[in-house]
Amino acid sequence: MQDAPVIPVIVLTDVAQAVLLARALVAGGIRMLEVTLRTPQALACIEAIARDVPEAVVGAGTVRSAADAQASAMAGARFAVSPGYTHAVGQACHDAGIPLLPGVATGSEIMAAQEDGLTELKFFPAMQAGGPAMLKAWGGPFGDVHFCPTGGVTIENAGAFLALPNVVCVGGSWLTPADALAHGNWSRITALAYQARQLKRSFC
Ligand code: 3PG
Repeated sequence: MQDAPVIPVIVLTDVAQAVLLARALVAGGIRMLEVTLRTPQALACIEAIARDVPEAVVGAGTVRSAADAQASAMAGARFAVSPGYTHAVGQACHDAGIPLLPGVATGSEIMAAQEDGLTELKFFPAMQAGGPAMLKAWGGPFGDVHFCPTGGVTIENAGAFLALPNVVCVGGSWLTPADALAHGNWSRITALAYQARQLKRSFC
């Protein structure tokens, strides 16, 4: 989470694009990459990036079950991100030896994740669930928890999140627009990554 201010949330449908996209993001200074398990090709894309782009640290997103966690680790994912938290997913990631960044949107969910030893959490969906004001409020009772807000975060509003002391980084899909992917516009993606890399944060 401390590596860069933004973790790109990536949806890939073409294994041939995976390595080119990963290289484009790395060229812009972003190497922590979340490839979501939302397409049938996602695991193969993770495998290709893990094999061919050693400068990247590829993880799996949208991990919703123990089976997802196991398959992700087998494919070479080095971390997992989930939209919510269950003990089963937490245990499966622990057993597979990959760190989990689980999604939370309420105090009870934070407490459940904390009970299992997790203190680095994704706030999801960040804008819809209360935005920076929500994280500011959580900074009181959950002052020992660090967040990666994701969902509705853009280059325009990222700064408001990153200015908070309990925000380490943000996540978002804006670095990999579908039309840039469709046209193989890698220089645009590198430029978006470079721009994101320059975002200032108070945590780090
Ligand atoms: C996610 O899919 O994890 C986030 O919803 C990404 O949200 P965004 O597309 O609004 O950045």
